[in-house]
Amino acid sequence: MTTTDLIGNAVLALLQHPGELSKLLANPSLVRSAVEEVLRYDAPVVQGTRIATEAMQIDGCPVAAGQTINAVLYAANHDSEAHPDPKRFDIERPDKRHISFGGGAHFCLGAPLARAEAQIALSVLFERFPKLRLSAEHPLERRTMLNFNGLEALWVRAD
Ligand code: HEM
Repeated sequence: MTTTDLIGNAVLALLQHPGELSKLLANPSLVRSAVEEVLRYDAPVVQGTRIATEAMQIDGCPVAAGQTINAVLYAANHDSEAHPDPKRFDIERPDKRHISFGGGAHFCLGAPLARAEAQIALSVLFERFPKLRLSAEHPLERRTMLNFNGLEALWVRAD
């Protein structure tokens, strides 16, 4: 589901930002940075959970041993202190950092596979259908699921 959501969110972001799509069509090697920007801009996994093994303070906030902490990855990726103009979708953003695959010891094991699949899927899709566009007849449907951010369906026209 996560990689499917990455590909769906990527196609949506590119079709909603024709200027960025034009850059990708003109320079297919931008697909790597386009995928990283989609991971930051519209992350497939919204949050990660940890349980504190000991009492601690996080940025002045007390956390008791055994307490559950929800780290909202999506919000961190849109923190303007870390990412200037975070609501702008920019496939040439110089700073490619994001935490959409988590971090530390439990960093996503599948990250290289997910990245490769998304890069290949986008390259092949837009090479085959460079005129792809959103279908005006179907409203956009986002999936309503707590932690997985993706589309129920993405209707497009290729003609
Ligand atoms: C775009 C696609 C994907 C996203 C956004 C994603 C995201 C994440 C996140 C946020 C975590 C939690 C990391 C943490 O708790 O710090 C995670 C863990 C994990 N992911 Fe992914 N994932 C993706 C695809 C995949 C794929 C394709 C696989 C396997 C083929 C995979 C396997 C795993 C495993 C095994 C863990 C647990 C690692 C551990 O606890 O040590 N993921 N992933």
